[in-house]
Amino acid sequence: MDKNSKIFVAGHRGMVGSAIVRRLEAEGYRRIIVKTSSELDLTRQADVENFFKAEEPEYVFLAAAKVGGIHANNTYPAEFIYNNLMIEANVIHTAYSYGVKKLLFLGSSCIYPKMASQPIKEEYLLNGYLESTNEAYAIAKIAGLKMCEYYNRQYGSEFISAMPTNLYGPNDNYDLENSHVLPALIRKFHEAKISVAKEVVIWGSGTPRREFLHVDDLADASLFLMLGYKGQETVNVGIGKDISILELSQLIAEVVGYEGELVNDLSKPDGTPRKLLDVSKMQNLGWEAKIKLREGIQTTYRCFLQAGVVQ
Ligand SMILES: NC(=O)c1ccc[n+]([C@@H]2O[C@H](COP(=O)([O-])OP(=O)(O)OC[C@H]3O[C@@H](n4cnc5c(N)ncnc54)[C@H](OP(=O)(O)O)[C@@H]3O)[C@@H](O)[C@H]2O)c1
Repeated sequence: MDKNSKIFVAGHRGMVGSAIVRRLEAEGYRRIIVKTSSELDLTRQADVENFFKAEEPEYVFLAAAKVGGIHANNTYPAEFIYNNLMIEANVIHTAYSYGVKKLLFLGSSCIYPKMASQPIKEEYLLNGYLESTNEAYAIAKIAGLKMCEYYNRQYGSEFISAMPTNLYGPNDNYDLENSHVLPALIRKFHEAKISVAKEVVIWGSGTPRREFLHVDDLADASLFLMLGYKGQETVNVGIGKDISILELSQLIAEVVGYEGELVNDLSKPDGTPRKLLDVSKMQNLGWEAKIKLREGIQTTYRCFLQAGVVQ
């Protein structure tokens, strides 16, 4: 891929897609093609074909997907499986048909088996039951990952997959029903600060441990893989360290400047005790994350304030 290559970033308005575009632009890539979902609905096969025929992208970052938190996943499983399967089938197959040189597909750490041993190695995929609340999303994502693998095997294409851990950063989703834990906590503590609330309630015991990667680090890893990765297997992308939800809450409270109490609501479920990716494969390839969690949360909070999510 060189600075004149035609690169299609699918999902460029999303958190991941926008980070990839920012990174490509900063590196001087000049021919980045983007389309909103209303300009090009990737679930529509004929439209996707017409687009590839007209634009002839040489490289594709597939960061378009229907994404959501536990509530959304659990409430709208039909939409999650349909939209994600259609986007993947259309984009991956059409990329093959129109001779795309390389494609990067994004999986997610939440598609590993619910009870996977920790830290989670790439080969643990499909060796146990999935988390029931996001099964529809996970099955669609696994299908996308496998499509890349099968197209490589049968057609010799270079379609690679990255498996990012929990992400955070600019353009995150702060919607109360759809957000992930880190952005939800930023919003919660910010609102508590503004309303001078005496306490903030943290769901569960606060002991579960999770890993968080800044989306700019994921964009860096995506470019790294696109430029140099020749392997066929999926690669985990994380920081290789986890933090308890209580520690994360304390850190966010500090960054936001909330000075009240943190109270646990033990009537709420804790979920899996630990979720951490084994990132040794990526490290062996020569890549590691650079953005420290505190620093990443500070810049994310500034973006949250600038975006005016909560007045
Ligand atoms: N967020 C995380 O913590 C996380 C963690 C691991 C992996 N990932 C993976 O990273 C990828 C991107 O996630 P994200 O957090 O960036 O999601 P996001 O912020 O919700 O963005 C998703 C993007 O997909 C586009 N899109 C959705 N349906 C579309 C359709 N039918 N046609 C065309 N475009 C469509 C949307 O375009 P419009 O804005 O134009 O509607 C949107 O910009 C996903 O594959 C996800 O599984 C995310």
